[in-house]
Amino acid sequence: MKNERIVVTGSAGFIGSHTVARLLGQGACVLGIDNYDAFYARAIKERNEAANRAAAGGEPGRYTFIEVDIAEPDAFAIAVESFRPTGIIHLAAKAGVRPSIDDPPGYVRANVVAVSEVLEAAHRLGCSRVVVASSSSVYGDTSPVPLSEDGPAVDPISPYAATKRAAELLATTHHHLTGQPISCLRFFTVFGPRQRPDLAIAKFMRRIDDGEPITMFGNGDTSRDYTYIDDIVSGIVAAYERTPAFGFRVWNLGSDRPTRLDDLIALIGEVVGKAPVIEHADRQPGDVKQTWADLTRSTSELGYEPKTPLRVGLEQQWAAARENAG
Ligand SMILES: NC(=O)c1ccc[n+]([C@@H]2O[C@H](COP(=O)([O-])OP(=O)(O)OC[C@H]3O[C@@H](n4cnc5c(N)ncnc54)[C@H](O)[C@@H]3O)[C@@H](O)[C@H]2O)c1
Repeated sequence: MKNERIVVTGSAGFIGSHTVARLLGQGACVLGIDNYDAFYARAIKERNEAANRAAAGGEPGRYTFIEVDIAEPDAFAIAVESFRPTGIIHLAAKAGVRPSIDDPPGYVRANVVAVSEVLEAAHRLGCSRVVVASSSSVYGDTSPVPLSEDGPAVDPISPYAATKRAAELLATTHHHLTGQPISCLRFFTVFGPRQRPDLAIAKFMRRIDDGEPITMFGNGDTSRDYTYIDDIVSGIVAAYERTPAFGFRVWNLGSDRPTRLDDLIALIGEVVGKAPVIEHADRQPGDVKQTWADLTRSTSELGYEPKTPLRVGLEQQWAAARENAG
């Protein structure tokens, strides 16, 4: 990574900040881009950015940050031009399935228009590769499990999922027209320190610790392939390294260990050390019934190998949450 100059978008976010730290640790120069989208507290994102600066260890030029809205016409290209990037890891997005149902245009702007801006800039600036964050949600509820990249993924059931699939299609077209090497990474529910506060694990930990009830949507039999952040970042870095060899490729990054919601809640209770108080509610529109990654392709082509068991990752996340709470 020593000669790489990498733009990481969404650098103030959960996955972005961990990615920046890993890249800096491997010797790359990094430019972080984020607009501090109001989806969750700016203070959390500023803390993530402070961690990014710390990871650069004060070495001049190793890490720079620019606050910019990528969906504004040409704003991204102008912001990154003088950095002369060798590649881009595009993680910025409005994430979150349920909120997308109330704001489809906002999601299209942040997750589709922004991707288009990034791809155009990458081509114009001669970047050797672009890695784009996608999501397991593109598989919808009709794809057979384990979910394989070979499936059609034509039935997304939320605006968020539809924007992620649209971004993949834009990337395919862009590669076809320009030859730009691009990969799209379908992340499966990522967790660990700095997890987005809207996500179930972070929310459940807070509420169980406060003795407040948590809402279990459905009867507990939905399941997710929870994937630890360090494993995801290893997959992102491997994809960055190998994208030029593939031209265009989609890779699943999951854990291949689906866990039922009721089992997850019980496990979080054990990690937090308190019995969860559960309130029941109907399954939410937009939520898929199950995710489970087929890792055949990412294992053989990226050497991707998720290592962190769910309990160990939950313990790490809980320890970090307590440290942040002071
Ligand atoms: N966390 C997960 O479980 C998960 C699962 C599947 C896919 N993903 C994808 O991974 C990526 C990172 O997710 P995350 O969980 O770290 O989310 P996050 O919200 O913590 O990070 C995303 C960052 O993008 C920034 N952003 C949003 N719109 C922007 C814009 N127009 N211009 C500049 N910056 C903008 C936000 O301010 C935020 O800091 C996203 O693309 C998300 O869709 C995440």
